[in-house]
Amino acid sequence: MQRRSFFHWASAMLSGAYLALLAVPGVGFLTEPFRRKSKSSKSRKLVRVKDLEVGVPRRVVLRDQRTDAWTKYAEGTIGAVWVVRTGESQVDVFSVVCPHLGCPVDYVAEEKQFFCPCHAASYAANGTTIAGPQKRGLDRLESKIESVGGEPWVSIVFAKFEPGILEQVPLV
Ligand code: FES
Repeated sequence: MQRRSFFHWASAMLSGAYLALLAVPGVGFLTEPFRRKSKSSKSRKLVRVKDLEVGVPRRVVLRDQRTDAWTKYAEGTIGAVWVVRTGESQVDVFSVVCPHLGCPVDYVAEEKQFFCPCHAASYAANGTTIAGPQKRGLDRLESKIESVGGEPWVSIVFAKFEPGILEQVPLV
């Protein structure tokens, strides 16, 4: 190999190695959202069962770190749920978001009903529709009671759902 050819070859090799080194963090950055594990299916510890009164819904706010594609935000409120203790060790957990068009649902203790002030939707304490324009009852979240440090806690898998339709379809 001639000296000039050797320098061309060596220069091309060094440039290739340099570009490959630069590409590694770039590819990692671009593919990060696809490699990230979904937080939506994680179980979240919510409230101790002993802190819930049977038949009295309690609103619980959820906090977590929110991530949109490449941006991570500081921890903040990601949503809220209504927890209804229905027995010694049974609970129902509902989204606070009205399945009509997404306004927050309140609980009216005197009437033992959930109520949405936006278009006057009302729901029974078990989440079923009483009256209003909505096409389905309150969205029920997957929940269970598990022991944490020897105490029963309610834990849930948090999700948000498509408003305005008949079925409860999670938003992704
Ligand atoms: S958003 Fe709740 S009734 Fe319309």
